[in-house]
Amino acid sequence: MIIAANLKTNLTRSETKKYLDALESFLNAQNIDQRVMVFPAMTSLQEHSGKVCVGAQNAYATQNGAFTGEIGLDHLKEFGINTILIGHSERRHILGETQESIVEKFNYYKELGFEIVYCIGEPLDVREAGEEAMLNYLDAQYQGIDTEYEKLTIAYEPVWAIGTGKVPTLEDIESLHTKLKEKSSAPLLYGGSVKVSNAKEILALTHVDGVLVGGAALYVEHFSTMCAYAQELENK
Ligand code: PGA
Repeated sequence: MIIAANLKTNLTRSETKKYLDALESFLNAQNIDQRVMVFPAMTSLQEHSGKVCVGAQNAYATQNGAFTGEIGLDHLKEFGINTILIGHSERRHILGETQESIVEKFNYYKELGFEIVYCIGEPLDVREAGEEAMLNYLDAQYQGIDTEYEKLTIAYEPVWAIGTGKVPTLEDIESLHTKLKEKSSAPLLYGGSVKVSNAKEILALTHVDGVLVGGAALYVEHFSTMCAYAQELENK
């Protein structure tokens, strides 16, 4: 399974270092061999060796250049980073990334052989408009994306569930994941208000290959517990 932490605009560089060290010790002590990923804030990116894969929450589709406020490939390479999150709903909806710019970024990092965690998800009004509207909306987020890229992981994160404490029912997650699996055989994560109290039942669902966790992952003890749940389920 894949257990991923999106730390967003939280944890400084030194806090991130402590976080990674604590997580690494836990994974080693508990013999956890699930795929664990952590996406720190940009200035908290750092070299890391061990079980945890450190990835970037974002980078521009460039090696370097004149793109004020962005980082490029050179900045990732400095820390040995070759994993990137693309298409997160906060980047789509708050920072105005279009599907076109997302595709450009996807193709750029795909050409470089990066592992890509690609996020999709519908806002509340789309969900309320019914299943057809929802599937059409999600379809548009697959546009231009190589869904069979071998280093692709997809994260389905309903926008209305992110950071709100609201989660679709387990039946809804399972049914949607079953449909999404028809579009791509890539591992499929669920994200949106995953926490210690619901992670186990979500991870146990068919076609859920892992979780992408935001708020609850800020506490390394909580995130570690979710990694342990994944291991438990896999050992069954
Ligand atoms: P959340 O965020 O767990 O705080 O809902 C998930 C995400 O945005 O990836």
